[in-house]
Amino acid sequence: MRLVLVGPPGAGKGTQAEFIATQLSVPKISTGDILRANVTGGTELGLEAKRYMDAGELVPDEVVINMVRARLAEPDAEDGFLLDGFPRTVPQAQALDKLLADLGTGLDLVLELVVDNDEVIRRLSGRRTCRGCGKIWHVEFDRTQAEGVCDRCSGELYQRDDDKPETIANRLKVYARETAPLIGFYGRTGKLVGIDATGPVEDVTERALAVLSSYE
Ligand code: AP5
Ligand code: ZN
Repeated sequence: MRLVLVGPPGAGKGTQAEFIATQLSVPKISTGDILRANVTGGTELGLEAKRYMDAGELVPDEVVINMVRARLAEPDAEDGFLLDGFPRTVPQAQALDKLLADLGTGLDLVLELVVDNDEVIRRLSGRRTCRGCGKIWHVEFDRTQAEGVCDRCSGELYQRDDDKPETIANRLKVYARETAPLIGFYGRTGKLVGIDATGPVEDVTERALAVLSSYE
């Protein structure tokens, strides 16, 4: 299955992507994760992307599209994938359509995680990420592990630079301006399905898998 996850920052895309990709046996491709790995690795791409990410702005379309083109050309994405955080602008969505058409294929489904701004702010403000394995955690909503240490790999849990209050506010503005128009774009293709992304993580996963089961 070729699937895109959309939704505002903090909607739970990364959290759900992990479960859904495992369930579908497809690679999870997160442009945010790829960009952060480049920042950590100090690559040229990372150096360019960092100033946009720290400000809560989008990295230029061309940079991200080239990155995704290269990733989708890898053998593990041949039979399906789950895109998390891409596309994020209408030009990115158009580029993805073209890229897939050139490969003789297309998207099966765009799953929208619907959640309001207040909940998004609570989720982002308390988010922690594992430096070792990338596991996502929340200081208030996850009581499963001691604060500061990952229960999967004992790695350090850190707060993302772009989860500061002023950056969160800008990311929400950028979402409304640049990414929300994608809902109309995909709505017109008939491939968009929205699910309620509030409530416990497992309940949201269940709703997502219920939608996906009708496409398998
Ligand atoms: P990216 O990493 O994609 O950030 P984002 O879209 O802002 O999404 P987030 O990762 O913040 O949130 P999420 O929806 O994945 O939520 P999560 O599961 O972590 O992008 C970062 C930056 O990179 C961008 O600002 C941009 O600069 C650049 N970039 C990336 N892609 C780009 C592109 N295509 N074009 C241009 N630039 C690009 O959950 C959040 C928190 O909530 C966690 O703590 C989690 O534990 C908790 N949580 C999740 N679900 C629940 C639940 N059901 N109940 C309670 N808590 C929950
Ligand atoms: Zn870990």
